[in-house]
Amino acid sequence: MIIQLSDGRQLPVEMHKVRIVQKTSLPPAEHRLRAMAEAGYNTFLLRTRDVFLDMLTDSGTNAMSDNQQAAMMVSDDAYAGSESFYRLTAAVKDVWGFEYVLPVHQGRAAEHLLAKVFVKPGSVVPMNYHFTTTRAHIELAGGSILEIFTDEALNTQSSFPFKGNLDLDKFQRVVEEYGAERIAYVRMEATTNLLGGQPFSLSNLREVRRIASQHGILVVLDASLISENAYFIKQRENDYQSKSIQEIMREIMSLADIVYLSGRKSTNVRGGLIATNDRKIYSDLLAWLPVYEGFATYGGMSTKEIEAMAVGIREMVDINVAGSSAEFVKYFVERLHANGVPVVTPPGGLACHLDARRFIPHIPQINYPAGALAAAVYLASGVRPMERGTLSSDRDKDGNEVLADLELVRLAVPRRVYSLSQIEYAIDRITWLHRHCDLIGGLKFVEEPPVLRFFFGKLAPLGDWGSRLVAAYQRDFGMDC
Ligand code: F0G
Repeated sequence: MIIQLSDGRQLPVEMHKVRIVQKTSLPPAEHRLRAMAEAGYNTFLLRTRDVFLDMLTDSGTNAMSDNQQAAMMVSDDAYAGSESFYRLTAAVKDVWGFEYVLPVHQGRAAEHLLAKVFVKPGSVVPMNYHFTTTRAHIELAGGSILEIFTDEALNTQSSFPFKGNLDLDKFQRVVEEYGAERIAYVRMEATTNLLGGQPFSLSNLREVRRIASQHGILVVLDASLISENAYFIKQRENDYQSKSIQEIMREIMSLADIVYLSGRKSTNVRGGLIATNDRKIYSDLLAWLPVYEGFATYGGMSTKEIEAMAVGIREMVDINVAGSSAEFVKYFVERLHANGVPVVTPPGGLACHLDARRFIPHIPQINYPAGALAAAVYLASGVRPMERGTLSSDRDKDGNEVLADLELVRLAVPRRVYSLSQIEYAIDRITWLHRHCDLIGGLKFVEEPPVLRFFFGKLAPLGDWGSRLVAAYQRDFGMDC
């Protein structure tokens, strides 16, 4: 909740009490330098014992509520016909209005099933932006993605409120060029993760629906970050300011034929699901569910997580839950921006994003500036971010680098996990790093996997910039932190 202070400042105040805590520690810079070298300058390969604030992702790292924890105790561990599943379907029906639910072990499993059933060799899938796993599954099924985002989407210094909108003219042209029969479905991602968690507007989604319906094209919604998208619509879109998050979410859902999500984000659990009101779509997907996931009533999820997800779906329409991460992200972004640090604006849904191109303009894209900056942030703070740039795109079929549209460093804010003083610490150290940005150098691959290389790839600094950065840090802050 945003509270206006007496000096006019706005403060995001937590509307929950912390009753269970987990210890964390701040390893000194010397230790961080060793840990980063062992991890091949890839923040994915760090161990959490070497991390102070884990901002790699908001996926599966959020705090559950007491009611979610309590629900886990009453789960029904049946292979078939579990009552836990029926509590999940009731929540999906009540909150989102869908009849049929297919549980899956996480978001990418939903993407796999959708690609298996709808994507044929030569199919195209227009979308507002891809996510790494989405693209991988569509391409593995022989299709390709068409990113038809708004022109404003790639502008990292913007005040445009809906950078996650689909460009409707481009969509019309795609339909004319490829023909509706080659379009497997049009995919809308609720807050486009790789563009910095930027939302679409309801009026844009309504137009997408209209064009899709004219041509008999399915609308698929990736609702992994749906609560944040609904929260932004309430804040930023005229006509929706007086609507509840529940009403907005329901309207979004009414415009999609199929919804899927990674439950690891907005529902604060680990799992995923696909939902639809179309019986034929449901049966086509159901046929493959036991092959890849599990029986219809658990789909690879633990029944404990299914119970917690049912509660999470009901809780996510509480404005203080839906906005919990978004308001911290806004605070994070605005403070860094005020300190002159290049961040993506307007603030998005899941994370504060540093714009590596502007932060370290001296490093060319082929030397992975976002990867280098992610490593440098860890060295200068113990905060673990994630690279979202050229490292996160694999090479093309001929082995050439595919330079990413954006070179971002993502500092995810897991929901209800960190305090504002911890965010303040991160702001301070990133601001220090920006003042010493000339010390940061590029990276080169030492071991490069062929698919989703950002997960397991090992890199090395070009030159010895890691040690020089740590020496400067120790001069300013001492040897102990
Ligand atoms: N779609 C979106 C928009 C996502 O952000 C993710 C995951 C997925 C699909 C895949 O879901 O991980 O449950 O299999 N995003 C995570 C992240 C990994 O760190 O942003 P999953």
